[in-house]
Amino acid sequence: MEHLRDKVLACCRQIAQFSRSPGETTRTFLCEAMHDCHQVLCGWMQSLGMEVSVDAAGNLRGLYPGSDPTAGRLLIGSHLDTVPNAGAYDGVLGVVLGVALVESLVGKRLRFAIEIAGFSEEEGVRFGVPFLGSRALIGRLDEQLLATEDAAAVSIESAIRQFGLDPALLPAAALDPYTFAYLEFHIEQGPVLESIKEPLGVVESIAGQTRLTVQFTGKAAHAGTTPMSLRRDALAAAARWIAQVEDKARSSPGLVGTVGRLEAKPGVSNVIPSQATAALDVRHASDEIRTRAVDNLISAGNDLARERGLGFRVIQQLDQQSIEMQPALVSAATRALQKVGCRGHRMTSGAGHDAMILAEKVPSVMIFVRSPGGISHHPEETVLPGDVQLALAAGLHFLNGF
Ligand code: HGY
Ligand code: MN
Ligand code: MN
Repeated sequence: MEHLRDKVLACCRQIAQFSRSPGETTRTFLCEAMHDCHQVLCGWMQSLGMEVSVDAAGNLRGLYPGSDPTAGRLLIGSHLDTVPNAGAYDGVLGVVLGVALVESLVGKRLRFAIEIAGFSEEEGVRFGVPFLGSRALIGRLDEQLLATEDAAAVSIESAIRQFGLDPALLPAAALDPYTFAYLEFHIEQGPVLESIKEPLGVVESIAGQTRLTVQFTGKAAHAGTTPMSLRRDALAAAARWIAQVEDKARSSPGLVGTVGRLEAKPGVSNVIPSQATAALDVRHASDEIRTRAVDNLISAGNDLARERGLGFRVIQQLDQQSIEMQPALVSAATRALQKVGCRGHRMTSGAGHDAMILAEKVPSVMIFVRSPGGISHHPEETVLPGDVQLALAAGLHFLNGF
């Protein structure tokens, strides 16, 4: 397993070089760098005798047939896109571990087939809407979504064509109806496993998340001549609102609230901002607590706008329910971890994952790999070689458990 472990790490590091921005790792939906990513993984999968294709949503799909055509298939996958200036393991590790697991079978055919999926887009960076790749497998990459445009006014449909794919073939991207389970390996991206000194963990639920954009609209005016009492400053209102997001999250146990993007127009120091646009991300394991917090923050924005004579509007990109992993698979994954000497710690994922999309159609489970320092969505994101080796060994036990 050591050579395979090293091959996994080398492959993740190689793929990290494929980026739309030189000197960092940034791969967005169907950017040119995704072709390089596909080429490396396709070569590896074809060397294992797998049938490889790219579906109409840009997902890389590899099939390792089983000995019994009636035994269905296990899907193993994760995403190949990244956030801007990302690390080398978020998403990619789950795909590469899946391919390495197939290699670890050294040509042996299991009863069931194994399908590997490298999803084209999970982070939601280019279009603001996440999970575009895995949505295609459950039939949720619909006409309305395909018309969504990026900052350059390119629609998802056009991006698919520009990558050399045909959106009309999206129905063929659907999950094989005989897929009986989905397994996703993923870095934890948080501090829990490190804090309890566990290399691996089992995800039993994934927190729900809301992603929306709020926009305050005021009036541009001269920064030097306009008295403070006569201003309709959109950015000052947004700043007050962002402070309320933090206060709300800090005062609600288990709630996290983030404003990751803020744009002001016209964006120069001597003009009072006429418009401020902020991107909000709110998460909690309980959908009720999350949605109530979002409602409170939206009414706080309306109050601020009313007090200051501003316009206020909300555009929602995502309202993703929290989701439970399939209990029997959670038990199977726990057993697999215990067979390699881990406790089989069960946990909730604060990060969203493709498993929460697949789980709508197929029993799903995730195995987390420890994140040293809890670092992720950052170039210093890393994994420990020993933990990757244990993930491979546990994965093999998981496969042999069916
Ligand atoms: O943002 C997330 O939850 C994940 O990293 N896509
Ligand atoms: Mn991520
Ligand atoms: Mn991820």
